[in-house]
Order: sequence, then C-alpha cells, then structure tokens
Amino acid sequence: MVDYDERLHQVYAEGRALPADSLGTWMRAVTDLAPIERPLTVLDLGCGIGRFTPALAETFGGPVYGVEPSTRMLQQAPEHPAVTYLEGSAESIPLADESCDLAWLFLTIHHWADPLQGLREVRRVLRPGGVVFLRTQFGDRMPDIYWYRYFPSARQVDASMYLPLDEVRALAAQAGLVAEEQPRWVEASEPRTLRAAYERVKLRAFSTFEHLAEDELDRGFAEFERDAAADPERELPVVPAGVLLLRRPSS
Ligand SMILES: C[S@@+](CC[C@H](N)C(=O)[O-])C[C@H]1O[C@@H](n2cnc3c(N)ncnc32)[C@H](O)[C@@H]1O
Repeated sequence: MVDYDERLHQVYAEGRALPADSLGTWMRAVTDLAPIERPLTVLDLGCGIGRFTPALAETFGGPVYGVEPSTRMLQQAPEHPAVTYLEGSAESIPLADESCDLAWLFLTIHHWADPLQGLREVRRVLRPGGVVFLRTQFGDRMPDIYWYRYFPSARQVDASMYLPLDEVRALAAQAGLVAEEQPRWVEASEPRTLRAAYERVKLRAFSTFEHLAEDELDRGFAEFERDAAADPERELPVVPAGVLLLRRPSS
C-alpha cells in the first residue's frame, strides 16, 4: 500500500498539476454522463489535494464532499464555499445513506485496502439512480505510457497495482452497482514535449515509483534526462484515459 502522508504529499501538487485545459475536459466528460438535474450533491472520494473538488462544485452547483485518508494531502486542498473536506476512507465513508447523486473516483480505487467494501460504501451513500465516474487504469489494458521505457519494471508494477476490467465489473456487481460493459476513453491533455514530461515525471509524484528500486530509478531518470536534453521538443502521443461508468439501480 502507498501512504500519501509519507512522501507523495510533498510532490503531488507540482508533479500532478493539471494542464490548463485538462480540468475543463474532465468537467465536460463528467457532465455528459451525470444525471441532468441541478444542483447535484457530489462525493469526491480519495480527493487528495482537491485537484477537482472545487471544479465539481462549480460544475454541478451543489455541495461537494471531499473524502480523503491522508491528512497531509487534505491540508493542501483549496477552500470553496460549497466544499466540505472530511478525513475518511472509501471503506468507511463519513456520509449518510443516500446523500449523494454522483461519486467521482479519480485514480484512487487501486489504493484502497478493500475495494469491495469501498464500492459497497459508495453504493450506500448514493441515491438510487446515482452515478459513479470511475477514472482508473485496468491491469489487463495498460496504456503505453512513454516513460515506461526508462524503468524496466514500471509497466509490470502498474499492471499489478490496477485491477483488470472484469474484476472491477465483478466487484461493482457484488457491491450492488451496475457497470457499463466497456470503459470510455477521455483525451485529457498531459505535457506534450519530452522536456515538459521529464520535468514533471522527475518529481516522482506517481505511486509507481514508490515500488521501484533506487538503482532502477537512478538509471532510468539519468537516461530520461539525457533524452530530454537531446530532443526537448519531441512531441509525445496523447494517451486516452479510461473511465468506467457505474450506476446504483433506481429500484
Ligand atoms: C493518485 S491520488 C488521487 C487524488 C485525487 N483523486 C486526484 O486525482 O488528484 C490517490 C488518492 O487516494 C487516496 N486513498 C488511498 N487509500 C484510500 C482509501 N482507502 N479510501 C479513499 N482514498 C484513498 C490517497 O491518499 C490519495 O490521495
């Protein structure tokens, strides 16, 4: 398990900052899939430093609850009049039954100690007909991330950290949620040149790096730095981001 209170909280804000147009892309993607009524009450579960939390309040016009187990991540979350941040975890969400319309789970489920219990809790706090926007990778369909080439173990580390699609769907069903058959894919921007990518990735704000040995990290970052210096403007391909939509049935 990765504890964001240990090191990642120090580098997350800079190393995972959203490019300017990315927040808008994500809010458009969730608006297309959310219930149409307004305002909506939103749960941002595993909200971290609140990268998306205030934007969810602006987008849906209702209260947003940011729930996060890491105190040090939560301390950095931006205040917003419609947002309440709560220390807690997926396995024990500090909200009442049927109190939310939409649950936003962005790159968090792979960190939960008990994903089935977490999804049961998500179902409990959702109203019937409520929607879960689950942004995750799937262990059996890992994208071709450009920096994997510098760290020979990284792809395998990530593939074992993320659950395969069928397993996510099976856990959702066990928890009483209905998952779509296939993920949807969102093209949100990431740094597009090799230099910008290196400057971001070298901060090691991805949990993958918590699982790699120091000598692999040293060798990989040295080679990555050399490549970025030699060809800083090289354009990187856009890697679509997977989202699985889950629903709590209406009755
Ligand atoms: C990659 S970060 C994503 C944070 C935020 N959703 C974002 O996109 O910026 C993963 C987050 O999940 C949190 N997390 C870890 N275990 C959790 C659990 N059991 N329940 C809820 N969140 C958890 C971590 O503390 C961390 O803040």
